[in-house]
Amino acid sequence: QMQAKTLALSEAMTRACDYYRRQLKTAEGAKKYLQGRGLSGEIAAKFGLGYAPEGWDNLRQEFPDYDAPALAESGLVIDKEGEDGGRHKRYDRFRERVMFPIRNTKGQVIGFGGRVMGVGEPKYLNSPETPLFQKGYELYGLFEARQAIRDAGYVLVTEGYMDVVALAQMGFPQSVATLGTACTPTHVQKLLRQTDQVIFSFDGDSAGRRAARRALDACMPLVDDSKTIKFLFLPTEHDPDSYIREFGAEAFQKEVQDAMPLSQFLLKLCSQDNDLTTLEGRAHTQFEAKSALQAMQPSSLRLQIVRGLAQLTQTTPMEIENMFELAQPVAR
Ligand code: UTP
Ligand code: MN
Ligand code: MN
Ligand code: MN
Ligand code: MN
Repeated sequence: QMQAKTLALSEAMTRACDYYRRQLKTAEGAKKYLQGRGLSGEIAAKFGLGYAPEGWDNLRQEFPDYDAPALAESGLVIDKEGEDGGRHKRYDRFRERVMFPIRNTKGQVIGFGGRVMGVGEPKYLNSPETPLFQKGYELYGLFEARQAIRDAGYVLVTEGYMDVVALAQMGFPQSVATLGTACTPTHVQKLLRQTDQVIFSFDGDSAGRRAARRALDACMPLVDDSKTIKFLFLPTEHDPDSYIREFGAEAFQKEVQDAMPLSQFLLKLCSQDNDLTTLEGRAHTQFEAKSALQAMQPSSLRLQIVRGLAQLTQTTPMEIENMFELAQPVAR
């Protein structure tokens, strides 16, 4: 039963995706918009980009069973609450938006993100979670990026649909995005099954830096000595898309090369608001590092970080470990 249901959901998503793609072919405004953002027809085709035209029930053309109960579960349509029997009680979720299909690792379409072409709220409208689509689990672009991740030996993790598509256009097809949510341990686990190097490249603004901090937390229980995790920080006003457009692929490549290793980012975060010339500043730095180090598996990397922390705070690794053992484990 469950299987029949998800199969029907998946069929509805595929059908809608085909419909949106066909609409893009004749949607001059949407094509102009994508061109204006530097995207070629090839890259749009690779990601299956489409267009949801204006109008409240366009999907009726594609779904003869538009009014049947099942379609609402896909999130493609929304049921107006309160009144029933009205002629327009159900309407299309996505209208006048450029459509980004979200695929699972099998390549099935499981959801969409739809962007307004000018200003408008919300900037991106997303599919709701369904039995097929869980945001804390899926990564936008992973299906399209899989071979490139193998070839490059690393994956770039960004915040946005546009970052992934623009990076692919500019020669970095090894890119994925979290879907408007924080990067979860599940995301990291999924990525570490594909590659042993993950480079986070979030927006340069404060939200992006917060996202990096949360990604660091998600990584701590999962890193071991065979894995490399790095953080690429962009200027405040940029995201990967805008950066690579303004400065080019070579400049971005250099940023990738210079990305900050996890250990350095962790120690930087722990010490940044503290005056290391004071005893309190050093104590607080240790305090800040505690939960991250306690979350880590025993490894050489952990040992190195404890050493680094010891140097920074003028203690010894042994003293730090003893102190962590004596103290109550931090609830996470
Ligand atoms: P951003 O606001 O950084 O947008 O949101 P962006 O990806 O740079 O988009 P462009 O370049 O303006 O087109 C990052 C991500 O957060 C989610 C989307 O996944 C988006 O790509 N988001 C953002 C939403 O889901 N809804 C929104 O209204 C805004
Ligand atoms: Mn942003
Ligand atoms: Mn952005
Ligand atoms: Mn952007
Ligand atoms: Mn603090």
